[in-house]
Amino acid sequence: MSTPSAADEPLSAALRAGTREQHGAAERMPFMEALVAGHLDRSAYTALAVQQLSVYRALEAVSDRVVGDLLGSTLVFPELTRVPAIEQDLAYLLGQDWADHVTPLPATVAYVARLDEIDDSVPHYAAHAYTRYLGDLSGGQILRRMMQRHYGFEDDGVAFYDFPQIHRLKPFKDVYRERLDALPFDAGTRTVVVEEARLAFELNRAMFADLGLQHPAGG
Ligand code: HEM
Repeated sequence: MSTPSAADEPLSAALRAGTREQHGAAERMPFMEALVAGHLDRSAYTALAVQQLSVYRALEAVSDRVVGDLLGSTLVFPELTRVPAIEQDLAYLLGQDWADHVTPLPATVAYVARLDEIDDSVPHYAAHAYTRYLGDLSGGQILRRMMQRHYGFEDDGVAFYDFPQIHRLKPFKDVYRERLDALPFDAGTRTVVVEEARLAFELNRAMFADLGLQHPAGG
């Protein structure tokens, strides 16, 4: 099942191949499928945004730690920062007192605990940042359109999926992959990165499972 990456395989390719199965599993979670198909409602979308706030606060706290490292700094892009966009979405979705509604679900608590635990480890950060940011720049763009279509959003409420400082996503993603590929990691460290990315997907999958309990698709 797990295919150790060949020594000469770029890290970005190893990450893509090494998490393909996990990506499929996350994408097929009933909560995500129902949300994307328009079978849920704005409150389910809001619940996802609430969970993502905790995740990105923890992830971007790691960004703030690794940016002080020569290698880590190559992976930190201010234009990717998501916390202010999520806060803006929550203010729109929940109103002025949105902060009173931010309660992380158990799987989110576990996800945040892992992000806190990796502290300032660049290989682990690479895995988590890849999993979330490249996802937001890829499938996230599809999600944005689906949320707009099914739940009546225009721009307010979906700022999370909008990267106003990135004019063309494809070349940006290429640069991000080049940065991953330029990390001078040995084979053992590259395996750690891929394993951690698999864990990151699993932590997301678990979060969607918790969200699914809170917001069942209802058939
Ligand atoms: C309904 C849910 C989802 C849909 C429809 C979706 C769709 C996609 C699509 C179409 C791509 C582009 C593939 C390519 O460029 O070759 C992609 C890439 C990606 N997605 Fe998702 N995705 C979903 C959920 C997720 C989740 C939950 C995560 C992680 C938390 C994620 C992480 C990624 C990553 C990291 C990539 C980049 C893969 C690479 O090129 O290395 N996606 N997704």
